Amino acid sequence: MALVALASAKGSPGVTTASLVIGALWPRQVLLSECDPSGSDVAIRMTGPSQTALNPDRGLVSLAAAGRKGIGDEVIMAHSQQLDGGLDVLLGVRAPEQIGGMGGLWAPLGQAFNQMYGSDVLADCGRIGPQSPQLPVLQSAGLVVLVCTATGSSVAHLRERISSLVHHVDAQLGVIVVADPKRRDGVRQVWSVLDQMTTPIHHRWHLAYDPAGAAFFDGRGVGRLDRTSLIRTGSVIAAEMAAAVAPRTSTDFDMAEAAFPSADTGTAGEYRQ
Ligand SMILES: Nc1ncnc2c1ncn2[C@@H]1O[C@H](COP(=O)(O)OP(=O)(O)OP(=O)(O)O)[C@@H](O)[C@H]1O
Ligand SMILES: [Mg+2]
Repeated sequence: MALVALASAKGSPGVTTASLVIGALWPRQVLLSECDPSGSDVAIRMTGPSQTALNPDRGLVSLAAAGRKGIGDEVIMAHSQQLDGGLDVLLGVRAPEQIGGMGGLWAPLGQAFNQMYGSDVLADCGRIGPQSPQLPVLQSAGLVVLVCTATGSSVAHLRERISSLVHHVDAQLGVIVVADPKRRDGVRQVWSVLDQMTTPIHHRWHLAYDPAGAAFFDGRGVGRLDRTSLIRTGSVIAAEMAAAVAPRTSTDFDMAEAAFPSADTGTAGEYRQ
């Protein structure tokens, strides 16, 4: 199915929080994989079913050791765990020092995520730069989404990162701006900066800056999560993002076939005349 990579250019704009929110609201089977070399936050912030602790040693590192002869759905799921609420996660490294043990596994890992049979994958790739070891995961993705805030410096770094990234990835590009729902002018300013770039940004989303909602994904939430603006905006993003990478159905194929029959000897243009 599909691989979507989420990342940031600089700072901590909320990539992990956005990944957790979108993963929880994803309309198909999905696995959230922490591919941030700076270390797992999910293991620290979140719990398993009935609030049991997650096993921080089961995740990317154990998968890397087990998958040296090949990585497929079964081995990926064997090293994944379920969060309270049902989202499947592959925990990242405990500390950056463990990245050395991953060796050249990032590329096969990205390919395996992209080719999973039973699940889409959302990869939280953390901050990315030209030397980032997790870059091959972005290169395997069908959609790369950069997360930023609506501040001048965040947008400036975003622009730089996009300009460099287009030389390395061949995916659809999306941007999520994390901003106060009342600050739509700030979000519009980000879009106008992106409009001035030559690189096309295929998808633009606004995720609410919402401390009360984000607290649930920091292990500190109180009250009703479903009433938060984080969840309201996150559900729109999850639905649109999942649609953007949805596999073509046989119905899509039939419609295309009906419009431009392959048996027709002329071109599609001639057929329409
Ligand atoms: N949409 C949001 N609204 C309010 N607070 C948020 C939001 N997203 C993230 N935060 C808060 O900002 C802090 C950083 O968030 P998060 O860990 O998701 O960022 P990150 O980009 O993954 O950072 P890092 O690069 O360090 O991994 C957390 O305390 C989190 O609760
Ligand atoms: Mg993070």
